[in-house]
Amino acid sequence: MDWLFFCLMNDNRPIGIFDSGVGGLTVANAIRQMMPNENMVYFGDTAHLPYGDKSPETIRYYAAGITKFLLSLECKVIVIACNTASANAFQTVVELAGGKVPVLNVVDPVVDFVIHSGNYKHIGVIGTKSTINSDTYALKIHREKPGIMVSSLATPLFVPMIEEGFIFDDISNAIIRTYLSRHELSDIDGLILGCTHYPIIKNQINKFFNFNVDIIDSAKVVAMALQKMLIQENLLNRAGVPGHKFFVSDITPSFRVISKMFFEQDVCLELKNIWEQNG
Ligand code: DGL
Repeated sequence: MDWLFFCLMNDNRPIGIFDSGVGGLTVANAIRQMMPNENMVYFGDTAHLPYGDKSPETIRYYAAGITKFLLSLECKVIVIACNTASANAFQTVVELAGGKVPVLNVVDPVVDFVIHSGNYKHIGVIGTKSTINSDTYALKIHREKPGIMVSSLATPLFVPMIEEGFIFDDISNAIIRTYLSRHELSDIDGLILGCTHYPIIKNQINKFFNFNVDIIDSAKVVAMALQKMLIQENLLNRAGVPGHKFFVSDITPSFRVISKMFFEQDVCLELKNIWEQNG
């Protein structure tokens, strides 16, 4: 009887998810594929992009505004689909959620994956300046497995490059080659894409390493961690017809193009200045 009751439980409140721009769409897309019944509210903070060169205080301020907005829409969980915000503002988001709404960041599931499922000796991490300066991946990996060597490299041109649509051309190839040939990344056996924008250029990164390095893409790993969290907290939407909402702080052509790439249709974007109304 309890089991029947459990199976009938259905939480159709949306999953709140945010990033500075299109990067979090890689996570949203993985969530949609793994949990097709779920509704999502996505916030892309395109007006403040990139987060990667902002101070931790500024990133926390932006993240706090978005969190209040997502909570006002009764989201059942908040996914910080941005490494930079995960590294700098996780605690801020957790405090605002006040223990009522669970919060998932993108760093912990990837660290867990590296620690438990791989036999890695030397891991590379690429990310924004802010994520790399925070040293969050190395600190978390070493807490559990001090034997893994971690080499981190900031690759700040990748986000503007992707947001500007330079993905499969000579410009992107030159930037990718220049960063990935740096000595920090020689002899690695795994590479963490420590920015949610980077899965968009995963094929090119794979090709650079001749498919000899495991490219660890946070999107699928985070979607799996979210599914586990929703099951544990009894928050799954088992029978819904999904309807996603997309909010941005500035309407940009690249958001339109990339959201269409993932969601195979024109996504209806709503412009929102949440910081003024949230105070
Ligand atoms: N997608 C983001 C991340 O995972 C942020 C990139 C940026 O805005 O600099 O870090």
